[in-house]
Amino acid sequence: MDKSVIFLYITTLASLLVSSSALCPHESEIFRYSLQSQSHISISPYPPLKVDGNFLERALASKQRTGYTAVLFYASWCPFSCSMYPTFGMLSFMFPQVEHLAIEQSSALPSVFSRYGIHSLPSILIVNQTSRVRYHGQKDLYSLVQFYQTITGLEPVQYFDGNQSVILKVVKSP
Ligand SMILES: *[C@@H]1O[C@H](CO)[C@@H](O)[C@H](O)[C@H]1NC(C)=O
Ligand SMILES: *[C@@H]1O[C@H](CO)[C@@H](O)[C@H](O)[C@H]1NC(C)=O
Repeated sequence: MDKSVIFLYITTLASLLVSSSALCPHESEIFRYSLQSQSHISISPYPPLKVDGNFLERALASKQRTGYTAVLFYASWCPFSCSMYPTFGMLSFMFPQVEHLAIEQSSALPSVFSRYGIHSLPSILIVNQTSRVRYHGQKDLYSLVQFYQTITGLEPVQYFDGNQSVILKVVKSP
């Protein structure tokens, strides 16, 4: 793979993360664009699906659901909360086997948030048929990847020259 393409791609990802607080309403579009413009990516990454409270409850109650679902609870008025969204998008394409749902505070009743034990935003929950685990920890991509690995037993998809340390290193150091 062409090294300059790789570095361009990393730069794009890094700048998305850094500038994310200013991007709240549009970051999913920008994120999708930056992925689509990279023709060397061979699997289709799905950006997180923005859902409301009803959708979330139906989705999580569904008996057809297999595997893991990650849910981001966030508030669009809070820059810190908003800045989680692009990170969640990165997780969505690093773990394409995990369904990713994002729910904004105003799109659900407070009872939905309290039912899932969400008392502060942003919060990330990983759910499967039998358990729900809420993430407590640093909200950086590197820590979250470790959390996903621990809970799901899945490895992040390797996009760069088969060298998975690249993406993790870039996002770890600010
Ligand atoms: C659900 O997740 C928990 C925690 O990671 C795991 O121990 C359990 O085996 C999972 N259950 C299913 C049905 O995948
Ligand atoms: C993976 O990336 C790191 C950091 O860029 C580099 O130091 C290392 O040599 C790479 N490993 C391989 C196998 O390409």
